[in-house]
Amino acid sequence: MKRDVIIACDFSSAEETYNFLDKFTGKKPFVKIGMELFYAEGPEIVRQLKKRGHRIFLDLKLHDIPNTVKKSMAVLSRLDVDMCNLHAAGTIEMMRAALEGLTRPDGTRPLLIAVTQLTSTSEERMHNDLLINGNINDVVVHYAKNAKIAGLDGVVCSPLEAGIVKEACGKEFITVTPGIRFADGAVGDQVRITTPERAKEIGTDYIVVGRPITAAENPVAAYERCLQEFVNE
Ligand code: C5P
Repeated sequence: MKRDVIIACDFSSAEETYNFLDKFTGKKPFVKIGMELFYAEGPEIVRQLKKRGHRIFLDLKLHDIPNTVKKSMAVLSRLDVDMCNLHAAGTIEMMRAALEGLTRPDGTRPLLIAVTQLTSTSEERMHNDLLINGNINDVVVHYAKNAKIAGLDGVVCSPLEAGIVKEACGKEFITVTPGIRFADGAVGDQVRITTPERAKEIGTDYIVVGRPITAAENPVAAYERCLQEFVNE
């Protein structure tokens, strides 16, 4: 698995997104389309970014009854994205149904990744708000194992948890990790965070970086810094 940086394009319009991506002359970063942009622009934004040559992680975090998720995944599979996701909290049955729905008649499908616990959730909030007891690392690993049992390709987790997930589920099991901040940057609402450099040491496959790049004075330089710290040997 080749390490890569995925830019979270958390914008509310296509125009804003194109203006942002036009700064990256000659480069085609792997991009993440989340709920904000997808709800604003619909599937057309996916087609357009695909046409521009970007690889796409469609981050819609599905979580519903198995039948609904299966049918929705079948619709998403026609968009030809590279990666999409759901919440592992939806159960193994839901994840199996999702995989079935996502698989095209010819047997191909995008990568399917499960969210374990959001990187904005602290252990305290998990205990008090969600009534999930125990250690957050154990919960993340348990959800990752469920995703593996269901046949998924990997999980979204904090970079701090990528090592234990790999230990429990194997090196080939993909970890996609938001919650990335530069050592000298703002944290915002994220809790379980680390730097691109440390994420590389821990051994994650993809880092998802939003505001440290999108809100930077020079987004291209911030992206290059991520590549430098995370990808380059
Ligand atoms: O701006 P920032 O770098 O915090 O963006 C992180 C991105 O990753 C956001 O788009 C957020 O929705 C997403 N994400 C996350 N934690 C998860 C799953 C996705 O922060 N567990």
